[in-house]
Amino acid sequence: MAKHTVVTMPGDGIGNQVLPEALRILKAVGFDADYIHADIGWEYWCREGNALPQRTVDLLAKHKLGLFGAITSKPKKQAEGELRPELRGKGYSYFSPIVTMRQRFHLDTCIRPCISFPGNPLNFIRKKTAGGFEEPLVNVVVFRQNTEGLYAGVEWTNPPEQVRAALATHSKFKPFTAIAGPDLAISVRIITRHAARKICQAAFEWAKKYSYKSVTICEKPNVLRETSGMMEDEAKAVAKEYPGIALRSTNIDAQTMWLTKNPEDYGVVVASNLFGDVISDAFAGLIGGLGFAASGNIGDEVAVFEPTHGSAPKYAELDPPIVNPIAMFLSAVMMLEHVGEVEKARRIRDAIAAVVKAGKVRTYDMMRIPGSAKAISQGAATTVQMTDAVLAKLAEQSKSADASNHAELAEVHE
Ligand code: NAI
Ligand code: MG
Repeated sequence: MAKHTVVTMPGDGIGNQVLPEALRILKAVGFDADYIHADIGWEYWCREGNALPQRTVDLLAKHKLGLFGAITSKPKKQAEGELRPELRGKGYSYFSPIVTMRQRFHLDTCIRPCISFPGNPLNFIRKKTAGGFEEPLVNVVVFRQNTEGLYAGVEWTNPPEQVRAALATHSKFKPFTAIAGPDLAISVRIITRHAARKICQAAFEWAKKYSYKSVTICEKPNVLRETSGMMEDEAKAVAKEYPGIALRSTNIDAQTMWLTKNPEDYGVVVASNLFGDVISDAFAGLIGGLGFAASGNIGDEVAVFEPTHGSAPKYAELDPPIVNPIAMFLSAVMMLEHVGEVEKARRIRDAIAAVVKAGKVRTYDMMRIPGSAKAISQGAATTVQMTDAVLAKLAEQSKSADASNHAELAEVHE
């Protein structure tokens, strides 16, 4: 296969701890790639007034494949306060670099698999009515529209007069007309038919490829009649092209309530930006939480893979690092699948599954103990030890593959 170049963006906080570990894993399976480091995150906002410098955009545009750790975002006033003094008051405003990257490269499809590893002590368990407990295995893949909806970024506090005038043409705006500008904040929820169609199509294609029985559109069309209504209409239209796959429809609020009732009944779930963000975190909670939640941001040309978690600043200074690198590994697995290296992806996933199942090496989150330096003396594995455990399983796989090859050869010689 062609050699790839991966733009690596560790970013802030624990992004710098987990991304290098993922590179060790990728190397161990023999993924033939060059890695180019790129700057992103809070440091670059403070120093340059831009958390996503143009040089990083250029690298992504050129190489088209990115592996990203996490970034730190802070509220507006704090962001302005931390900007280098020379840059203050010069019109710089902070934008989340990951949101900017998604919009800049039209990474409009976000894929978030939430699939349980048997033996994970964090897996969801359910009380049986007759007594005792059961552990339904969750196998959900959330498709989240990644560039529009409530995260389109069209928002104001104290909206300009033209905006107020336009809104005043809507009868439902009447109760708000008397509100003083500084007391009025507006975020616009934008859904376009093309993007709605595209995310629904991607969800159904995935369901078809991986034999899921259903696609659930998770919106709120009874209240958000226009925007969620359009999402649902498009889901229905796309569903007609996939006769073997059932389309189900749930409301985001009810879905979060039902989540723990029958999570094993859901397959692919598709939603607009904010609702997809919410529901993917909710499903991730059933399979081990942020230490296990990976994602891919896919555009027509560029794709960037990242754990769902953020920079977890309270853990960033701990030495040795203690956070769980599995979400980052699973993001690397998604990257491998994306470039067609499915066998290498499978090997890593199997190795992670074997470590989780064996239960001997667990980071603090898997032990449900507080994340502090003390966790190690309580038996928690460090970030590096978790990587070493996965590497050891990979080595075992290679040995047993070698042994079976030898056995086959011996048979041939006989
Ligand atoms: P977070 O995901 O950074 O951390 C929340 C909590 O989850 C942590 O305190 C920790 O208990 C746990 N956690 C996260 N990753 C873990 C891991 N790998 N292993 C074990 N436990 C883990 O979210 P938070 O605290 O809300 O935000 C911190 C910063 O990260 C903020 O500045 C936020 O804006 C940013 N953020 C960035 C994201 C991104 O880069 N895509 C996503 C979410 C938040
Ligand atoms: Mg989120």
